[in-house]
Amino acid sequence: MASVQIDDLHLKLGSNPVLNGVSLELADGECVALLGPSGCGKTTTLRAVAGFVHADRGQVRFDGRAVDALPPYRRKVGLVFQDYALFPHMTVAENVGYGLRMRSRPRAEIAVAVSEALARVELAGFESRLPTQLSGGQRQRVALARAIVIQPDVLLLDEPLGALDRKLRDGMQVELKRLQRELGITTLIVTHDQEEALSLSNRVAVMFAGQIAAIDTPAALYRRPPRADVMAFLGRANFVAARIGSQGWRAGIDTPLGTRLYAQPADPARAPAPGDAAQLAIRPEHVQVRSAEPDTARGEFSAKVGDLIYRGALAEVLLHAQPPGPGSSPITLSADLPADGLTMGRGDTVAVRLPDEHCLIFQENVA
Ligand SMILES: Nc1ncnc2c1ncn2[C@@H]1O[C@H](COP(=O)(O)OP(=O)(O)OP(=O)(O)O)[C@@H](O)[C@H]1O
Ligand SMILES: [Mg+2]
Repeated sequence: MASVQIDDLHLKLGSNPVLNGVSLELADGECVALLGPSGCGKTTTLRAVAGFVHADRGQVRFDGRAVDALPPYRRKVGLVFQDYALFPHMTVAENVGYGLRMRSRPRAEIAVAVSEALARVELAGFESRLPTQLSGGQRQRVALARAIVIQPDVLLLDEPLGALDRKLRDGMQVELKRLQRELGITTLIVTHDQEEALSLSNRVAVMFAGQIAAIDTPAALYRRPPRADVMAFLGRANFVAARIGSQGWRAGIDTPLGTRLYAQPADPARAPAPGDAAQLAIRPEHVQVRSAEPDTARGEFSAKVGDLIYRGALAEVLLHAQPPGPGSSPITLSADLPADGLTMGRGDTVAVRLPDEHCLIFQENVA
């Protein structure tokens, strides 16, 4: 087992700056999920940790020891590639045993380890098939078996469950979590599935344009994202253009929906100047809506109900705010309301409130 330190990795592929100072630390046995839009550099980061590409600048250390000079097979890293990358001419058993053969383990030991690993991913009996004779999900599980069979210190998973249906995926998540707990493998997992990220990992790192934008526990990142783009990326959010009041935060935030006397700066370290442009942000589940005349003393404003989109237990309701003053652009907010007993309909006028305690203020724009 090992802790992992990724320190200020810079990497250009061709003339393309792909990693622009990636820094990330994983404690021994920790599982960190790496999230970010397509093309932001997630796979490249994993490949650098595994040793398949070399950074132009920066360092990777396991347990504090630099591994930059070591080839992939000497790093005790299990990697599941995004496209599985099974050797097409090798059987399932040969694919899974590959890493052990590279490490010159005895034949008998390899056979035992391979069948154990295949049993773990529920593929016992598939030993002599070729990759072309497997489904996408089965190939993905062979790739996972190939990664864990070497008992790696560090497991790098690039969307390892992407090709699985919901049921298999849930099963594999439980299995991955068990493996990780039993073997205590330090794991960096790339996923597009936010639910998967939250269920598998201790911490979530969000990456934009070759840099880690934020890292924290899933709950903290969701509730108090340090940046507007992180908030927009993790879940859904409403943003309203605002301006810092005449005496900084204390004097409130001016928005076309009224002046808010209290709002939390997302980054307490950055003192805003009066008059600075800002963004007020709130999650749809925190927007309060009732069928009534707005009570402006409670900070309510009036809105017209637009589309309603049913999403199971909740309905997403689009609200077109009424008061935008002369010259302001129209503001549409989205609210998640319990679908059960929802009485309002398209075209109704309702009272909307954005509770102060759920409003965040950002000083930069959403990407
Ligand atoms: N060999 C290469 N030469 C030039 N650019 C490359 C090369 N390989 C990858 N890139 C670019 O590097 C960037 C990061 O690629 P990477 O595969 O790390 O993204 P990713 O975050 O894993 O995306 P995805 O979620 O789509 O898998 C992309 O813009 C990609 O086009
Ligand atoms: Mg990728």
